[in-house]
Amino acid sequence: MRLAPRLDQVKPSPTLMVTVKVAALRREGIEVIDFGAGEPDFDTPEHIKDAAIAALKQGKTKYTPVGGTADVKEAIIAKLQRDNSLEYALPEVTTGCGGKHILFNAFHALVGPGDEVLIPAPYWVSYSDIVVLAGGTPKLLPTTEDTGFKITAAQLHAALGPHSKVLLLNSPSNPTGAAYTEDELSRIADVIESSELFTISDDVYEKFLYDAPRCAHLLALKPGLRDRLLVANSVSKTYAMTGWRLGYAAGPQEVIKAMETIQSQSTSNPNSIAQAAAIEALTGDQEPVGVMAGEFAKRRNYVVDRLRAIPGISCTLPEGAFYVFPRVAGCFGPKWQGKPIASAMDFSLYLLEEAKVALVAGEGFGSAEHVRISYATSMQNLEQGLNQIEAALQRLSGA
Ligand SMILES: Cc1ncc(COP(=O)(O)O)c(C=O)c1O
Repeated sequence: MRLAPRLDQVKPSPTLMVTVKVAALRREGIEVIDFGAGEPDFDTPEHIKDAAIAALKQGKTKYTPVGGTADVKEAIIAKLQRDNSLEYALPEVTTGCGGKHILFNAFHALVGPGDEVLIPAPYWVSYSDIVVLAGGTPKLLPTTEDTGFKITAAQLHAALGPHSKVLLLNSPSNPTGAAYTEDELSRIADVIESSELFTISDDVYEKFLYDAPRCAHLLALKPGLRDRLLVANSVSKTYAMTGWRLGYAAGPQEVIKAMETIQSQSTSNPNSIAQAAAIEALTGDQEPVGVMAGEFAKRRNYVVDRLRAIPGISCTLPEGAFYVFPRVAGCFGPKWQGKPIASAMDFSLYLLEEAKVALVAGEGFGSAEHVRISYATSMQNLEQGLNQIEAALQRLSGA
């Protein structure tokens, strides 16, 4: 069977592949500690579940308008005003089946053949594949530990070309946890303003920012970008609602309308019960978010301290999200199964087999020298998993 040519250019999400591998090993009865998860280990707060149950009982079980009900859009508008000091009206807001779907719609609405999307790297695995599916060209802007895994304004300026159409910013970032300061964002905003770039600000980790001071939204710092910026967000990470599939966006009416047109010919509206739950999530008690963030902060410190004590591994302290992105190239060289460990992929396969710990190799994020460790798992799992990693690496180096 000949599949469509677009399949030649996209790969399945490596983070979801890890989840599948872990599930397969567990089915064989092998205990694996999973550091691959891209979702909070906490349960969805009760008041949000109650809102969903109430919606079900009230019969909110029918199609809604494609971009979501007016009520969920009002809740998003209230959230953007409360948390980000951004003012939007109903036609400037939409919802989709998760943040990923929002980005899928946005890239399909904004880019086509010949259009370049600038993506700071390391980057979340799906950005480049979605851009390719949409017919555009991802252009990676490499960053390293030296700049805290952040692009500089000068780098952005130098990367601009005649085909540059969209800039994707994700702060705090998956996979590095890097978060821009207000000063850095302002300088980047100056470059955007002087160009014709359209910016997508992926804010899904905005609530998981630890000791860094809270930072104004890029658009609040530079209101002049309003016609050229899309805020993309989701209830997935903030409210431990990854399975509910509800993402949202706010931006220029023309772009929102185009996204809804695309959605109208694919999924139609996102799940009506998830919309009702999202209203409660966005406008109800926000305390559970602070509790989660407090717990993540403790785990981050623990994981970074443990990793820094392992020979061959270096690790920056991420400002946010729930990932660390250590450099593991210092562990490359020793042989396993007759071949030297020479990449992040080899390293993570070794740890999966020999330490029974799953983490995600950096290749999918644009680095063969790093791995991503998610600390969205219990302190007990973190301790045990890191003990097993440490022991397996000691065996590897013959120490
Ligand atoms: C950076 C980033 N953006 C967007 C998403 C999309 O999340 P969801 O589709 O669950 O809202 C993810 C999920 O891993 C992510 O890491």
